[in-house]
Amino acid sequence: MIVLGIESSCDECAAAVVEDGRRVLSSIVSSQVDLHARYGGVVPEIAARRHVETVLPVLKEAIDSAGLAWKDLDLIAVTRGPGLIGSLLVGVAAAKSLALAHQIPLIGVNHLEGHICACHLCDPAPVLPAVCLIVSGGHTDLILMEAWGRYRWLGGTLDDAAGETLDKVARCAGLGYPGGPVIDRLAQDGRADAAAFPRSWLDGGSDFSFSGLKTAVIRSIQGENPLAPPDLAASVQAAIVDVLVKKTINAAIHHGVAQVMVTGGVAANSSLRSTMEAAARLRKLAFTTPPRVYCTDNAAMIAVAGWFKRVQGESSSLSFDTEASLPLV
Ligand code: KG4
Ligand code: ZN
Repeated sequence: MIVLGIESSCDECAAAVVEDGRRVLSSIVSSQVDLHARYGGVVPEIAARRHVETVLPVLKEAIDSAGLAWKDLDLIAVTRGPGLIGSLLVGVAAAKSLALAHQIPLIGVNHLEGHICACHLCDPAPVLPAVCLIVSGGHTDLILMEAWGRYRWLGGTLDDAAGETLDKVARCAGLGYPGGPVIDRLAQDGRADAAAFPRSWLDGGSDFSFSGLKTAVIRSIQGENPLAPPDLAASVQAAIVDVLVKKTINAAIHHGVAQVMVTGGVAANSSLRSTMEAAARLRKLAFTTPPRVYCTDNAAMIAVAGWFKRVQGESSSLSFDTEASLPLV
């Protein structure tokens, strides 16, 4: 089954063609980073307007570079939420129009389910049941996966998401936008113990809180002896990675699963990847994280999520709505 995925929930306009939920034939991502950098964050109205300009060229490029034509597609899958409503509407309107014009079945997909399904592109594919950490700019959630498409929410952030914390700290320190990749790069040359920033353990459960850390870091940046950027980056990163890794591994042990998955934009972080891998190995747990390009927003993951829905019997529809706060479960 050949699936065209479309993703436009935030500031990335993406299209991809994936065969049988595993083989990526093309994956095009048009980033708007340069457009939003001067504002230090995504401006929703600007994002939606740029999506209008890029969505059709991006779709054409995805189909062309897969060497296919519209008639070769068996399904279109599009992100219908959660995300910025104006951005979502552009992708969904394009998907519905093209599905109707070319008579191709259409399925609406949850963006978070897309992030989870990015793990299905890994070799070997993860073996379920698993505990999955979704860690991105807007989300930090721990999910128990009994099967593909069957999710139990174990906990999530009570305030800021991990990526949001990195972005806000970097912005406050004048390090640039988006903060996650900058902090990842700077931290390579910094000391993780330069500052003992707070970790919120919240009684050891599966919930997270990063607002206390954010406040402590901003106070340190604005204080009398601010840290050098590499030391600041390494210390903040360590505080976040510590909590993400311990809570994910604890959840896996508590629920008796042998597989851990980490996905979403922050899963591109070098320290999170290596620390989680080492912690999982120590506990004899299998560890899966997608290649970096499939951690950050992309449409291959949306195609995989659509494929799963189709093979599990979900029928196609042109009547679904976009939802800014669409829950995963
Ligand atoms: O999944 P994503 O592309 O978009 C959302 O669904 O939110 O995640 C974006 C987030 C941003 O906060 C960005 O700073 C963070 O992922 N990010 C990283 C890295 N690359 C992207 N955070 C840490 N290290 C990275 N290498
Ligand atoms: Zn995302």
